[in-house]
Amino acid sequence: MSYKAKFRVWRGEGGEGKLEDFTVEVNEGEVVLDIIHRLQATQAPDLAVRWNCKAGKCGSCSMEINGRPKLGCMTRMSTFTEDETITVTPMRTFPVIKDLVTDVSFNYQKAREIPSFTPPSGVEPGEYRMQQIDVERSQEFRKCIECFMCNNVCHVIRDHEENKPGFAGPRFLMRIAELDMHPYDVADRKDSAQEEHGLGYCNITKCCTEVCPEHIKITDNALIPMKERVVDRKYDPLVWLGNKIFKR
Ligand code: SF4
Ligand code: F3S
Ligand code: FES
Repeated sequence: MSYKAKFRVWRGEGGEGKLEDFTVEVNEGEVVLDIIHRLQATQAPDLAVRWNCKAGKCGSCSMEINGRPKLGCMTRMSTFTEDETITVTPMRTFPVIKDLVTDVSFNYQKAREIPSFTPPSGVEPGEYRMQQIDVERSQEFRKCIECFMCNNVCHVIRDHEENKPGFAGPRFLMRIAELDMHPYDVADRKDSAQEEHGLGYCNITKCCTEVCPEHIKITDNALIPMKERVVDRKYDPLVWLGNKIFKR
């Protein structure tokens, strides 16, 4: 069964733009990205949208649908009523390149600031031996498809451009936690998490966890444990004594 839906889509570039209204055909089983593609094919050939897999796995088609961050390819039209106006806008935290396409280079910049896995010297690849529990712990974080919807929704940077230099965002604070939990990683992740990557800005509102399409428990399983690790270290009497002696 097909019907005509009302779509309101943000169009613009170079810092300027407005919402444009469309009436567009919807067929059974379609998702929001299908409708955007139909708009391109029939009414707005220059409408810009980023996508790749159409299977919820590449993380490219992040957008805001009725004000909520969503993957366009995983948002079924059947979740809306036929008379509803569906508003599609680009992710708000990142600058718009054109229409629904945002410049997410902030995230890649943050990724580059985090040193990669750092094993102890003298241990060769193939010699690492890990407990299954340690493997499983990071497995959840590795489901991340880098859609950046968690970073998009976090209030620390959503309307606060000034916080961006000092805040890696939930996606990359989770990456730091993943590395810190790795039994063979010897880099100092705790001080840098707090001092360079803004772990202290996170006040565990959990908005990031709510929007994650991979259902990763970012706050409970990565951010809160990382905060505990940082605090443990700060109040560890041996570390405290070491610092005292060292500073003399
Ligand atoms: Fe997207 Fe979830 Fe990865 Fe954040 S943690 S980038 S919301 S998949
Ligand atoms: Fe932001 Fe998630 Fe913390 S939304 S404040 S990083 S719990
Ligand atoms: Fe790949 Fe939507 S197109 S996640």
